Amino acid sequence: MGAMTIIGTGSYAPGVPIPNAALARVMDTNDAWIRQRTGIEQRHFARDGETVSELGAHAARRALRSAGITAAEVDYIVFGTMTPEYAFPGPGGLLGAKLGIEGVPALDLRQQCASAPFGLQVANGLLASDAARTVLFVCAEAHAGFMPWRDWDVVRGESTREVAEEDYARATRHRGVAILFGDGASAMVLRHTTRDGAGFLGAECHSDGARADLMYMPGGGFTRLPFFSLDVIEFELCYPQMRGPELFKSAVTELAGVVRSLCARHHVALDEIDCVVAHQANDRINSAVRKALGLPPEKVPSNIARYGNTSSATVGILLDELRADGRVKEGDLICVVALGAGLHWGAALLRL
Ligand code: COA
Repeated sequence: MGAMTIIGTGSYAPGVPIPNAALARVMDTNDAWIRQRTGIEQRHFARDGETVSELGAHAARRALRSAGITAAEVDYIVFGTMTPEYAFPGPGGLLGAKLGIEGVPALDLRQQCASAPFGLQVANGLLASDAARTVLFVCAEAHAGFMPWRDWDVVRGESTREVAEEDYARATRHRGVAILFGDGASAMVLRHTTRDGAGFLGAECHSDGARADLMYMPGGGFTRLPFFSLDVIEFELCYPQMRGPELFKSAVTELAGVVRSLCARHHVALDEIDCVVAHQANDRINSAVRKALGLPPEKVPSNIARYGNTSSATVGILLDELRADGRVKEGDLICVVALGAGLHWGAALLRL
């Protein structure tokens, strides 16, 4: 039967890039702070009404084209996002309808920034159990909705008007999160290969709800009666809460740990890995992980400068770029690794 392999990738980012300096117009931050602490220089933001199933459809069409197949050949959709268009239903089925493949099963993942290793593990299970022959794994995010400003015209440079004092103060209260995220989508087409030695070696995934408070969205969940009220806005519960430094430490420890553990389980020496395709949350996190694993910088590529953290989509966007410019190629051993709110984290090994 062979092992699962990636036969196509695609990615998409909405609109024009928004540089760090644009965020400094609506809150107290600056380009130097953002670059030094995160490596981010710009990000893209979805427009009002631009949804993850729409962003995902753009990436999916590109991935299908790169795989040389049509949507009609997809028989399972796996969709990862933490910013779905509705509380329910999830975006997987909506994506299927946009691609004209209504009726194809769609599974929505809730693993946030850790969607890539979880999604690959699930896709491998679907293929191995013969539930599917061609899995379309899409990840997309539209974080723009939880940005703490209302002054999109100012952020986008369409107006130079003054920002109201209370709006500036609110955005500044949430600046630690607001500077990190950007919008985008990625897609992978997954199938079994008959090529000798190629394909998925395995994945290791973990979850720890005891650390859910390191990053979560307090409002909009079905905790309160009614589940959504003006309080959600008044008490600013519609913005994520993050304990940045603690999350940073958890990320470095767990990411390095899961790569070591997965490699040991599959008898792969760390220096056999050709490329670590790591979640792009913060360049400083990835450089600490890289040092902990003793890997050279060229084996842990980064594109966070151009996209910020696109949560579930970072790994797929980076992999798409690496395939397009030949930095990874057939025969390479790649290790996907990611950690996200939940906490969820994991790694996957795959020979292209
Ligand atoms: N602009 C300017 N200053 C800012 C700022 C911003 N956007 N955000 C925070 N600051 C200030 C803080 O108020 C603080 O000031 P103080 O020392 O006067 O109190 C100072 O900068 C340091 O803040 P701190 O939060 O300790 O900085 P940090 O070095 O931990 O960096 C993060 C903050 C968010 C970049 C970092 O913690 C991080 O990347 N954490 C992980 C986040 C992550 O991965 N999230 C996604 C998970 S998938």
